[in-house]
Amino acid sequence: CPLKKLDTLRRYKAEKQEVSDNVKVVVRCRPLNQKEKMMAHKQAVVVDEIRGTITVNKLENPHELPKTFTFDTVFGPDSKQLDVYNLTARPIVDSVLEGYNGTIFAYGQTGTGKTFTMEGVRAVPELRGIIPNSFAHIFGHIAKAEGDTRFLVRVSYLEIYNEEVRDLLGKDQLQRLEVKERPDVGVYIKDLSGYVVNNADDMDRIMTLGHKNQVHLPTVVCHFHVLFLWALVLPSTSLSDSCDISRSNSSEFTGSPPVPPHTDVDPRDSELE
Ligand SMILES: Nc1ncnc2c1ncn2[C@@H]1O[C@H](COP(=O)(O)OP(=O)(O)O)[C@@H](O)[C@H]1O
Ligand SMILES: [Mg+2]
Repeated sequence: CPLKKLDTLRRYKAEKQEVSDNVKVVVRCRPLNQKEKMMAHKQAVVVDEIRGTITVNKLENPHELPKTFTFDTVFGPDSKQLDVYNLTARPIVDSVLEGYNGTIFAYGQTGTGKTFTMEGVRAVPELRGIIPNSFAHIFGHIAKAEGDTRFLVRVSYLEIYNEEVRDLLGKDQLQRLEVKERPDVGVYIKDLSGYVVNNADDMDRIMTLGHKNQVHLPTVVCHFHVLFLWALVLPSTSLSDSCDISRSNSSEFTGSPPVPPHTDVDPRDSELE
């Protein structure tokens, strides 16, 4: 029936639109570090925050034309942690508080600024990254919640390294966990611990504990490493079991080694493939 076909097509288009609206790709370029400055390296990228573009200049080959790439949002070397939070993470956390699932995923080579962006320097308020800011935001929202709305926040923290899953909050750090799948719950990690947290200070303690248990990676080897902090936020208007569950996932992901200066490493060559 042509009408039915039209309806299916409309629905397909709406779903496609929703998917493209719901996934945003943001690029942040860090400033040159002391060592790079001392070695007189030049910034190879030009960031245009208004247009949302990154232009890559081939400094070692000035005859090659620069290439420009466009993203949903870009941040240059002077970007502030709070601007990154407000423009990229805040809308996701807001929707988590409304009951949707949300994921913030940082990907990049070692030394590009994933930990700085996701975690930052927790002791210095203006240098706090997305994770501490998101917890201040979540607990700020909970404190202001009106009426009977109650929330439960439960946190897990895990690491995947060399294809092994470790619970960074687990009692036995030698234990390796299994990734399982069930039709009713989907993919999950068996025996992963979860802690109920009541305020941002509890969260801070959880992050410090998780940190202590992370593997300390040499920066020059090729590795595949994922850190995954997972908060389950349960807004509930009653004490019944039928409350909405939404998840906020914050992860950091490394799939390739740092690029030595002036070499051309194709990210597709990394072991990520
Ligand atoms: N936007 C930034 N502004 C200032 N310093 C940064 C920025 N991003 C990263 N850095 C610094 O660069 C170094 C590498 O960043 P890091 O977050 O550890 O990288 P990654 O986690 O991707 O390996 C750190 O010393 C960090 O403090
Ligand atoms: Mg890091």
